[in-house]
Amino acid sequence: MLRHPRTVGAVWPTSRRAVEDLLDMADLGAADVVVEFGAGTGVYTEGILRRLAPDARFLSYEVDGALAAAVARRLPDRRLEVVNASAENVLGHLGALGKKADVVVSSLPFSTLPAPVGQNLLDAAREALAPGGVFLVLQYSKTVLPELERRFPKIRRRLSPLNVPPAVLFSCEVS
Ligand SMILES: C[S@@+](CC[C@H](N)C(=O)[O-])C[C@H]1O[C@@H](n2cnc3c(N)ncnc32)[C@H](O)[C@@H]1O
Repeated sequence: MLRHPRTVGAVWPTSRRAVEDLLDMADLGAADVVVEFGAGTGVYTEGILRRLAPDARFLSYEVDGALAAAVARRLPDRRLEVVNASAENVLGHLGALGKKADVVVSSLPFSTLPAPVGQNLLDAAREALAPGGVFLVLQYSKTVLPELERRFPKIRRRLSPLNVPPAVLFSCEVS
């Protein structure tokens, strides 16, 4: 956070409760391909792995090389590939797999990221999803909602009040 305040955007990792609240908003157990934007310390990565089917594929993006290496070391799992690159590159990687994602999970700080990067990431999430796919987003404010509404026809919203600070959770569906 101190080294890269705008790309990290949070002082504490998300609480386990808020992670579970967010993941409850999609059916990860039925997903064939899952993508994570911003692995950080791996709190979502771990929660996602607990729910994934044995033969699912999971790409987790993290721009910070030290964090990406630490998550890959701590969570060895043949379903998981930790990619040390911007999640803006997700379409290229999914193209190589020949598949789209059923669920994309993001805790990226859209309100502090440079605006063009945030736009690219939201476009990439939309394009990465298969028909019926779901984009799960955790934020600390509703600022990103208009941008989500421009891209996704159906959005559900809930609050995870016990997180510090309280988290706003969005589940965005493509048609
Ligand atoms: C708010 S932190 C959340 C991390 C993690 N989900 C947690 O709660 O511990 C956001 C993370 O996204 C990473 N990040 C920021 N921009 C990114 C991008 N364009 N692609 C991939 N990761 C990114 C940051 O380095 C940081 O680790």
